[in-house]
Amino acid sequence: MTVSQTNLQALDADTVVAKLRDLRRRQPVKYFAFYSSQLGGIVTDPALMVLPFDDHMVHRGHGIFDTAGLVNGKIYDLEAHLDRFLLSAERSKLRIAPPRGEMRDIIVRTTAAGGQRDGAIRYWLSSGPGSLELSPAAGAEPGFFVMVFGGLTYPDRWLTEGARVMTTTYPIKAPIYAITKATNYLPNVLMQMQAKEAGFDNGVFLDAEGNVGESSNMNVAFVTEHGVLAHPKFDHILAGCTSLRLLELAEQLKTRGLITAVEVRNVPVAEAHASREMMLLGSSVKVASVVQWDDRRIGDGKPGPVARALLNLLDEDMRSGDRLIDVPY
Ligand SMILES: Cc1ncc(COP(=O)(O)O)c(C=O)c1O
Repeated sequence: MTVSQTNLQALDADTVVAKLRDLRRRQPVKYFAFYSSQLGGIVTDPALMVLPFDDHMVHRGHGIFDTAGLVNGKIYDLEAHLDRFLLSAERSKLRIAPPRGEMRDIIVRTTAAGGQRDGAIRYWLSSGPGSLELSPAAGAEPGFFVMVFGGLTYPDRWLTEGARVMTTTYPIKAPIYAITKATNYLPNVLMQMQAKEAGFDNGVFLDAEGNVGESSNMNVAFVTEHGVLAHPKFDHILAGCTSLRLLELAEQLKTRGLITAVEVRNVPVAEAHASREMMLLGSSVKVASVVQWDDRRIGDGKPGPVARALLNLLDEDMRSGDRLIDVPY
């Protein structure tokens, strides 16, 4: 659209809503319910799922978020995601409002309002609107937002054939930012775009010492040539809730002879390259084998048995484990 085609007259409120609906018609989305503390309620029309432009989260990235999975009408591992959410809030100097119990309740009730049994729930805390300054506006009210949506999807090929990743040329985030789930995902976005442009599925950050970091919105783990399930330390990457849970569940794979040990430590890139298996772990991807890293084949170039076993353990935990919250539809 050129400027000459654009009608630059001032718009009234009804026209704005109509135009927001047009936007959603042109670009349909799977957003089922949205809670905003600023609105004090829930909306189910995606056109109305909006924030004031001067919210500090929008124009300065001063906000945090987290995402929990919705599986078969139940919310999975919400307490672990809320723990991380509150830690991110503290590190970002965001005022917690409402209290944790109320946030949990709002998340559950918004999910019920969405009416969906499968998908994902993302929620944000912002420092609020009121100025375009660097520091939050005086008297800014923190915003809490919840979105129930369809969830992120990945090609089936990732499961059947395995994913292909490249080492990104973008620098890994400094540890304080990497361990905080803030809305600034620029390095993660650029890494994923770079990988796709180069014909790969995703990127991997390495740290300055040559140890493996993480991927765009997922962690990475390895089965070393000695059969150890090795995961990078969480001091310079995000502590993935999926990784933390799988590292517990993986103990069962020792007795089945699939792995010899579970270790959280530095994983030097040379050791990682020689691994039998490499995998991507996260709430959205769950467990996906990586079969190629840059121009190297990982293991025998096929999805491996440990990744498959971990995915089964996770699926079972998501369907019938003790970390599920019933949604009162
Ligand atoms: C940068 C980053 N690393 C790792 C993860 C995996 O975390 P989780 O397992 O909690 O989804 C995510 C996703 O939230 C992420 O954004």
